[in-house]
This record gives sequence, structure tokens and C-alpha cells, in this order.
Amino acid sequence: TTVEWEAESYDMDGHDTYMHKEICEQADAVDRVLRGRIDDRFATVRLDGLNMDAREARAVRRVKILGCGSAYHAGLIGAQMIEELARVPADAEPASEFRYRNPVVDPDTLYVAVSQSGETYDTLAAVQELKRKGARVLGVVNVVGSAIARETDGGVYVHAGPEVCVVSTKCFTNTAVAFALLALHLGRVRDLSVADGRRIISGLRRLPAQITEVLAQEEAIAKLAAEYADATSMMFVGRVRGYPVAREASLKLKEVSYIHAEAYPASELKHGPLALIEPAVPTVAILPEDELLEKNRATLEEIRARGGRILAVAHAEQEKADHTIVVPRNEVELDPVLMGVPLQLLAYHTALALGRDIDRPRNLAKSVTVE
Ligand code: G6P
Repeated sequence: TTVEWEAESYDMDGHDTYMHKEICEQADAVDRVLRGRIDDRFATVRLDGLNMDAREARAVRRVKILGCGSAYHAGLIGAQMIEELARVPADAEPASEFRYRNPVVDPDTLYVAVSQSGETYDTLAAVQELKRKGARVLGVVNVVGSAIARETDGGVYVHAGPEVCVVSTKCFTNTAVAFALLALHLGRVRDLSVADGRRIISGLRRLPAQITEVLAQEEAIAKLAAEYADATSMMFVGRVRGYPVAREASLKLKEVSYIHAEAYPASELKHGPLALIEPAVPTVAILPEDELLEKNRATLEEIRARGGRILAVAHAEQEKADHTIVVPRNEVELDPVLMGVPLQLLAYHTALALGRDIDRPRNLAKSVTVE
């Protein structure tokens, strides 16, 4: 069985689909996840729902994030943020894999279950198994009072508001921001400086307006979608901060447009997928302006040399690409949040151009409450 939103009870506000409505709501949604949580005096955040004092937060030696689908991808972003800001080893794994492999459950590891609905069976089963083995488990959940929210020791609510479209957009973005808050908190009880805390806080505060700037490019993105909608398959590539963005963008495109898509770390292209590159298989490359920009530019050249078309998502026009979607600069640690947004619009407009059932893609459910 699946849990169905009572779709009729939420107004579409003049949008043609919930997906479009939810994409457009993201500036407000991000504002909500930040609201009341920023502590300027100590350059940190207050996350009372964690139910962990500073000493417990400091005792965490490792973070393991579990979720399915887009929640898992938001967890991949979260793991990177936690490693970068708190210097605590962190990784994300599909909850469905974790629960079936008799995992070693370590008392010094903080487990984090991520879920929009809070009802996904595989994620809930992972939580229950962890609890049974005595682990501390937090939830990063959207639906207040859901099963995962109830069964975890504490957590961070994502406050994205109701998400009706089967594919996740605003909840994905808000979950990534919720992880930035958790990472900042874990960082500030350790060695993250006041200056860096302030830098991240000011970046977080810039996000809503920057999301609005990205959404203002919708018309141009719709044209790009029409241009690439003839693809037989699409490659999404990125390095480090760009890679989870590529993973999610690839999932989004396949879910709503039914175009086959693959996400690869840009550095792995030469170990196989380059064989697929040809004009009918365009590449979307995510190139934040970080220490890997030059390496990413070299990847564009490799793709071009094989006759591949390239759509770049970057902070400035990329001459090696056929087209560039330019997103505003923020702090590098927060780049994944903003760079995902135009690719939601790309997936949406590709699906629209192909006449797909955007809010209810075939074979998928909003919430998978069975094994
Ligand atoms: C389903 C949906 C996905 C979603 C995943 C996890 O497969 O189609 O869009 O990301 O479940 O859902 P959750 O509610 O746990 O975030």
C-alpha cells in the first residue's frame, strides 16, 4: 500500500502541476527551515529537537546517514557538509541496503534517518534495527509526527510544507539545508571557527533570494529542455560537491521524463562511460567554482572531443560547454543546495515537452510503505 496525499486539499495556486508549484515555493521553504534556528551570538544554530547536549554532540565519532531515493541523495550532500564543517567522518547509504547487510552498529556513531514522508518502510526498518541494537538515531524528516519522527531519539524537522508531486523538489532542497544546519552545529561544538560559522550563516541567509534568482531563469531553462529533449540518454557528472547534485538531477530527469540518465563522478568517465558519449547522449556537468573547477573544465574538453553536447551548471559562462546555466555564488559548502534547483526545472520542462504525467509518473508512488 502507499500513503496518498489528499491532493485535492492543496490548492495548485494557478500552477499547472504540483511539481511546478513546489519548485516555485523553494525560497519560502528554505526561509522556513532557517527560521528561529540561527544563533548569531555564538555563530551557530539551535536545534532543540536533537535532544543532545554539547557533550553528546562532541562525543560523536562518525555519522551514518540512511534514506531512500531523493532523501538518500540529500543525505549524500549532508555527509559531505558534515565532513567539511565538522571534520567528522560521515557517509550516506541507501537504507534498503543497510538493513539487509547485518551492519556493524557502533555506539560512537550517530545514525541519521532521512525521509520526506517519515513512513518509507525500508528507512523505518533501518531505524528499528538500529534502535534494537542500542544506537542513537536522529531523524531529518518533513512530515511532523510521522513514524520515523516518532521512533527516532530526536531530529531536525525539514519544514518544507506538504509535498504532493510524487517526485521530491522542495523537500530535497530543504533537507540539504537542514543538513547544513546539523553540520554547522556539529562543527561549532568542535573546531569550526566563529568566522567560519558566520560565513556559513550569512550564506544560508542569502539562499532564499538566490533561489528566486535561479527560478527567474525558467524561460531560458525551458528552451534548453526543448533542445535536449531528443536525447536517448543523458549523463550527469560532477566532482565531490557536484556529484550528489548530479545523482539527484539524474534521478529527477528519469522519474519525470522517462529519459534514461546516469550520474557519474566526472573523474570516472574515462573508466567506462566515455564510450557512450555521442551527440544523442548529452552531458549535464555541474561545475561549482571550487578547487576542482579546472579539473571539471578538462572533463568538458574530453566530452567535447568525443562529439558530446554539454550543458553546464556553473557560476560563470563555460566556453567549453554548448550552454551554461549560471547560478549565483554562495559559500562553496552550500553550492550543492543552489545548483540542484535549475536541474529540477530542466527535468520538469523536459517532461512537459514530452507530454508526461508529471505529478504521477508511471510505476512510482510518493511514499513506499512496503518492502
Ligand atoms: C519514493 C518516492 C521518492 C522518494 C522516496 C523516499 O520512492 O517516489 O521520490 O525520494 O520514496 O521517500 P521519503 O518519504 O522517505 O523521503
